[in-house]
This record gives sequence, structure tokens and C-alpha cells, in this order.
Amino acid sequence: MEINNKPKIFVHSWIAEDLKSKLEENFDIDQHDASEVVLSGDSLLKRVINVEGIIAQAPIIDKNLLQSCPNLKIVSNVAVGVDNIDVHSCTEMGIQVTNTPGVLNDAVADMSMALLLAVARRIPEGERMVRTGEFKGNPYPLLWGADLKGENLGIIGMGSIGQDVAKRALPFGLNIKYYNRNRVSKNIESDLNAEWLSLEEMLQSCRYVVILCPLTNETKHLITIKELNHMRKDSFLINIARGPIVKESDLIKALEGKIIAGCALDVYEFEPNYDLRLAKMDNVVLTPHAGSASVNARTGMVELAAQNIESFFLKNKVLNPVNIIN
Ligand code: DGY
Repeated sequence: MEINNKPKIFVHSWIAEDLKSKLEENFDIDQHDASEVVLSGDSLLKRVINVEGIIAQAPIIDKNLLQSCPNLKIVSNVAVGVDNIDVHSCTEMGIQVTNTPGVLNDAVADMSMALLLAVARRIPEGERMVRTGEFKGNPYPLLWGADLKGENLGIIGMGSIGQDVAKRALPFGLNIKYYNRNRVSKNIESDLNAEWLSLEEMLQSCRYVVILCPLTNETKHLITIKELNHMRKDSFLINIARGPIVKESDLIKALEGKIIAGCALDVYEFEPNYDLRLAKMDNVVLTPHAGSASVNARTGMVELAAQNIESFFLKNKVLNPVNIIN
């Protein structure tokens, strides 16, 4: 079916040229490549004020903005996490929100293991040593790191990505513990040999803790100094979900006070800013919100976000609804 009056769509994202041309068959497209700068304030407002749909990679879509967009019908987020969007206000205003689950699972699960291995085996520290000419041989105990086999891995957020991390961790000999609002099915638990624990029990028993839950009002500052104090002194925290789940100033206190052994962060509480003290610590691995940054995942996310827009306007349904609109 072809639309006569083409709906106006603002694409706030990198998009492949052929996908953009395909969308232009049915939509009046205005595009801003968000890989250069994420728009906010007036520069975002003037691009969205008349549109019916937004493909949103990273902009903050809050109540004020929504109230200024009388024609807006759908926000198609280019991410699985929707913490950049005021979903509650969208629902109240009858605006559909969609996301991109599934296509990024492998990339994020791979990166979770990469960060775990990097911090355990001190890979960036060793790499810095070689690059700066400090590698003069390998005397014992140079760069001895932590082992994986036989250790407990605690997963905070046992959704589909958490389960994919568990599947990758099992062949390394890690035992799977998890903390999740709801217990997963017995079948999943038995396939992953996973044990459901309270947050405190999990933190006390695990050498590695990976955060994979969404950022919500309930999970903001889920990890503060209180929880870090429950962790083992030889443990490592890996956050690949959303920065504000961990109170960054408390994490720094825990690292400085040797309450935990180290951490690997892909996300930051005040992203893209982060506390520079983190960058000075050798037991800290830092990456730039690159969890889903593989070719297949990121192109797949943009494609899925476009499909949600097409399906909404052409078929009156969406593939990945985040809210229910009556
Ligand atoms: C996601 O999909 O939520 C990734 O973190 C990209 O933002």
C-alpha cells in the first residue's frame, strides 16, 4: 500500500543510504546524522515540531518536547533501552513507542565477555605497557590476573541478553547466579545451571558481577556504596547496561578503598562525561558505550527502527511495542 500524503518523519540517526531511499518512497524524511552530534533543546525541537514520527538514536524525548509536537504518533527508538524517552507521557498522549530488542543481543553479550576477560586478565593494562615501551620481559608475577574457571558470575537482569551472557560464560567454567525482579522459568534455570538469589546474596558470593538490567526508577542507583560493601574484595563489577544504575562516586570510593578489585564500564552515570579518576586506575577498563557497536547489531537496530515506522503507518501495527496505545 502506498501513502498519498507522505507522513513527515525525522530520522535522528545514522542511516544506510539504501534504507533512507526506501523510506523516502513512503515518507517525507528529514535526517540528522546523530553520530556527529546528538540534538537537544531548540535544535531538536525545530526538527520535530511538525513530524508524525521520529527514529530516535539517543536524543532525550521528554514531556516538554512531546507537548510541542502535536502531530507526533510514534517514537521508534534505535536501542533496546528506552530511558531516553518519557514513555509514560507518550502513553498518556497516545504516542506509540517502539524499540529494537534481539538484534543487538549477540553483540552486547560478546562485549560483556570481552569486558569481563579484559578486566580479569588485565588486558588494557598489559597493552599500555607494551605501547609505552615498558615491556622488558615477563618476570613472575607480572600481570597475573584473575581466573574464570570455578568462579561465580552474577548477572543482574536475566532477560534475553543476560541469558546470552550466561550461555557464553558456561564454557569458561563460570557458575551462573542471577538477580532479577522475577525468577526465570525452571527450564531456563536448568539449561543455564543458574541460581536465583537476592541482590545481597548474589553480590556476596560472586567474583564477577555483570549489570544487564534496564534503567528504570527502580534500578537507578541499584548499586551504591551499600551494595558495593556486600561485594567480595576480589570481585569485579562490569556495567554494560546504563550508567545511572551505579552511583559513580560510590564506585570510585569502593575502588579507592579496595572494597572491590576492579571494574569494567561501558556506560557512565553522566554520559558522555565520566569521572577522570576512573581513567587513572589500572584496575578499571573503560569503553565508550560500545556494547552494541558491531556492524550487524547497529545496522540491524536502525533497520528494525525503520521497520517499526513502516509497519505503524502502512499496516497499523508495530513489531516491537514498548507501550500499549488504545
Ligand atoms: C541499547 O540498545 O540500549 C544500547 O545500549 C544502545 O544504546
